[in-house]
Amino acid sequence: MTALDKTLEIQAFLDQVAGIANGEPTRLKKIVRRIVGDLFATIEAFDVTDDEFWQALNFVGQSAPEFGLWAAGFGVEHFLDVRADRADAEAGTAGGTPRTIEGPLYVAGAPLERGRARLDDGSDAGEVLVMHGRVLSTDGQPIPDAIVDVWHANTLGNYSHFDTSQSAYNYRRRIQTDAEGRYWFRSILPSGYAVPPGSGIERALSAIGRHGNRPAHIHFFVSAAGHRHLTTQINIEGDAYLHDDFAYATRDDLIPPVSRVEDIGLIHAADLNAPFAEIAFDFILPVAMNEGDEGRSSRPRALVD
Ligand SMILES: [Fe+2]
Repeated sequence: MTALDKTLEIQAFLDQVAGIANGEPTRLKKIVRRIVGDLFATIEAFDVTDDEFWQALNFVGQSAPEFGLWAAGFGVEHFLDVRADRADAEAGTAGGTPRTIEGPLYVAGAPLERGRARLDDGSDAGEVLVMHGRVLSTDGQPIPDAIVDVWHANTLGNYSHFDTSQSAYNYRRRIQTDAEGRYWFRSILPSGYAVPPGSGIERALSAIGRHGNRPAHIHFFVSAAGHRHLTTQINIEGDAYLHDDFAYATRDDLIPPVSRVEDIGLIHAADLNAPFAEIAFDFILPVAMNEGDEGRSSRPRALVD
């Protein structure tokens, strides 16, 4: 079997990551492609696990906190997803909502609420969003008491905790599904964002003709007893960077339509008094094959004291 890093798909991906797909193959781009390709080959040859990779990144990152962004921007985090997808396909355990990258901005310990939650503290005048749906097993059965752990940026593209001007856990909640497997939350539509201006990652990307922008998105961990943990995101449709994400996280099945609710009865049913944006999205979880499937990777994460 061809090593994953040698497949046409991943070779083409490396051309994108190194900026070769979009312009002159400069010496610098060729060096970047070699380094990232060698890293992919090492991960593949030694079957490096997600836990091993994130522990190693954390070790390096203690002196360079930007490294979480480097893992996203140079496609390594996406490569780990492609490896996990392939492992599922080989084991016959593919299915459910697609996974996509976590990114470096999760904070553990967000408030836990049952069924319905409001994520925002009301200080941002963004368009109100209501997102709802169910957590289902691959056989279509609703999963009660699943945990939908959601986090997203504000309209400036900033995340609470890392942006200390925001209240604690703003746009971050854990929602436990009700008896019918339903979750519901009110928030605001987030904006996309870019890597920090003047950062090392921004300079590195621009040196190879790339940008550091992400389209607007909402992150999720979805977990339930007996089911495989899901790390994913949904994108907000219509964003200019929807298919030009510097972190390569966009997947076709993760772009739900955004509708505008203007019916006064529906507005009142949502405890609102003005039209709002709505996203309906079900999360589908395969059955766990072993206990390790039920949890997320042991990647070090921020924790509010
Ligand atoms: Fe994000």
